[in-house]
Amino acid sequence: MRLILLGPPGAGKGTQAHRIVEKYGIPQLSTGDMLRAAVAAGTEVGKKAKAVMDAGNLVSDDIVIAIVSERIDQDDCSKGFILDGFPRTLVQADATEKMLAAKGLDISAVIEIRVDDAVLADRIAGRYTCATCGTGYHDENLKPAVEGVCDKCGGTTFKRRPDDNRETVRTRLQAYYKETSPLIGYYYAKGKLKGVDGMKDIDAVSADIEAILSTL
Ligand code: AP5
Ligand code: MG
Repeated sequence: MRLILLGPPGAGKGTQAHRIVEKYGIPQLSTGDMLRAAVAAGTEVGKKAKAVMDAGNLVSDDIVIAIVSERIDQDDCSKGFILDGFPRTLVQADATEKMLAAKGLDISAVIEIRVDDAVLADRIAGRYTCATCGTGYHDENLKPAVEGVCDKCGGTTFKRRPDDNRETVRTRLQAYYKETSPLIGYYYAKGKLKGVDGMKDIDAVSADIEAILSTL
C-alpha cells in the first residue's frame, strides 16, 4: 500500500500517519520530519532548508525529491509507505509518478484531509511532541494521561517546532493554496483522490481513513 496524505498545515497528516504505521506496519515518510532531522544534524541540506522552513516557505523541489527518492529505495519501503507532506507541488507530483513508474509501482490512494482554515492556527499553536519518542500531543485536543509525562515512553521533556507560530502559519497556508492545492485536481483526474472530513475528532478521522484503506 503506497499512500499520500494531503492537507494543509495542521490538518492531521502526521497524527493519522502514525496510526496507519501502527496498524499496517508500513513506514511514514514525512519530508518535514526528514528536513528537521537534517537541520538538527547540521547537514548541507539542513543548512539550506532551515531559514526557508522557519519562514514557512517551501524548500526547493530538487532537495525534497532527492530525499524521498533515496528513502523509498530502502528495504522497509518494499511493502509500501505513507508519504506525509510530499508531494507538495506539481513538479514533485510528476517526479513521484516517474520515480515509482521506474520501479513498476504506483500510488494506491491519495487521502485528502479537509479542514477549515479557521481551526488550523489553533491546532498548530497548541501542538507539542515528546522529545524522546516523538509522540504528538496538543494543549487542548490531545493531552497525555498524566500531565508532563509521555503516555508512550514515560519521557518528561517535550518540544515545539520553530515554525509553529501564528505568523508563520499564514505563510504556510499561502504556500499550501498556491503550490499544493492544485494536487487535489491532479489526483482527482487520476481517480486516486479520497477525501475525509478532518474537522471530526481524531478517532473519527482515523475510522474514516480505515474505511478507505480497507477497500484498497
Ligand atoms: P511539515 O512538517 O510537513 O508541516 P505541514 O505540512 O505544515 O504540516 P504539519 O506537520 O504542521 O501538520 P500535520 O498535518 O502533520 O498535523 P498534525 O498531525 O501534527 O513541513 C514543514 C516545513 O518543511 C514546510 O513548511 C516546508 O518548509 C518544508 N517541507 C516539508 N515537506 C516539503 C516538501 N514536500 N516540499 C517543500 N518543502 C517541504 O496535527 C496538528 C495538531 O492538531 C496536533 O497537535 C494534533 O494533535 C491536532 N489534531 C490532529 N488531528 C486533529 C483532529 N481531527 N481534531 C483535533 N485536533 C487534531
Ligand atoms: Mg506533520
